[in-house]
Amino acid sequence: MWKRFLRPFSGYINKMLPEVVFVLGAPGAGKGTQCSFISKEFGFVHLSAGDLLREERQRPGSEYGEMIEEKIRNGEIVPVEVTCSLIHKAMQKSGKTRFLIDGFPRNKDNLDGWERVMSDKTKLLFVLFFECCRDLCTERCLGRGAAGSGRSDDNLDSLQKRFNTYLNATMPIIEHYERKGLVHRVKAESAPDVVFEDVKKLFNKLDRIDN
Ligand code: C5P
Ligand code: MG
Repeated sequence: MWKRFLRPFSGYINKMLPEVVFVLGAPGAGKGTQCSFISKEFGFVHLSAGDLLREERQRPGSEYGEMIEEKIRNGEIVPVEVTCSLIHKAMQKSGKTRFLIDGFPRNKDNLDGWERVMSDKTKLLFVLFFECCRDLCTERCLGRGAAGSGRSDDNLDSLQKRFNTYLNATMPIIEHYERKGLVHRVKAESAPDVVFEDVKKLFNKLDRIDN
C-alpha cells in the first residue's frame, strides 16, 4: 500500500540523493586531469581519495598520518573506514549534489565499506575507467615526480607497487562494475584535451545542473 502510494515520487526521491561517478584507472592514467576538466565544464565536485588522504596525512594531530604515509609509499590501500569517512565529510562540507570520486573504490575493502555506509545515501551514475598502457603511465608519473609533484610515491619503486595493487586489487572492482553494466571505458593515451572529447560525450548525456 505504502509502496504503491510512494511509487509516483520515487523518481523525485532518487533525484534528491547526491549523484556519484567513480573514476578509476592505473596510476598516471589521467584521472585527476580529466576530473578537473569535467568539474569545470559540468559542475561536478572533484574529490580525489588520494588527495584527501594526503591532506589528512598533513593535518596536525591526525592519528592516521603515519599509517597513511606508509601505505602511500608502498602503494597499498588505506582501510576504508578512514578513506570513506574523509569522502563523506568532504561531500557534506561541499553542500553540492554531484561528485566525481577519483581513485575509489580501489579494492574489495573500499567497495564493501562504501556499500555498508554510503550506497543508500548516494546514487551511483556510472564508473569512468581510463585505459592507458603501463609504460605511458609510468612515464607520466615519473615526469610528474621530476617536475616537482612532491609526491612520495612518484618514483620507480613505489610505482611498481602501485601497479601491482592496481592489477591485483583494483581490476577486480572494475570487473565487478562491468558485470553490472556500469563501466564506461575511455582510451586515455592521447593528449588530455583529446581524451576529454570522449569524456564530454558521456557527460553531455546527463542533465546539466549548476552544482
Ligand atoms: O589516486 P592516487 O594515485 O592519488 O592515490 C595515491 C595513493 O593513495 C594510493 O597509491 C594509495 O596508497 C592511497 N589511496 C588509498 N585508497 C584510495 C585511494 C588512494 O589508499 N581509495
Ligand atoms: Mg590523482
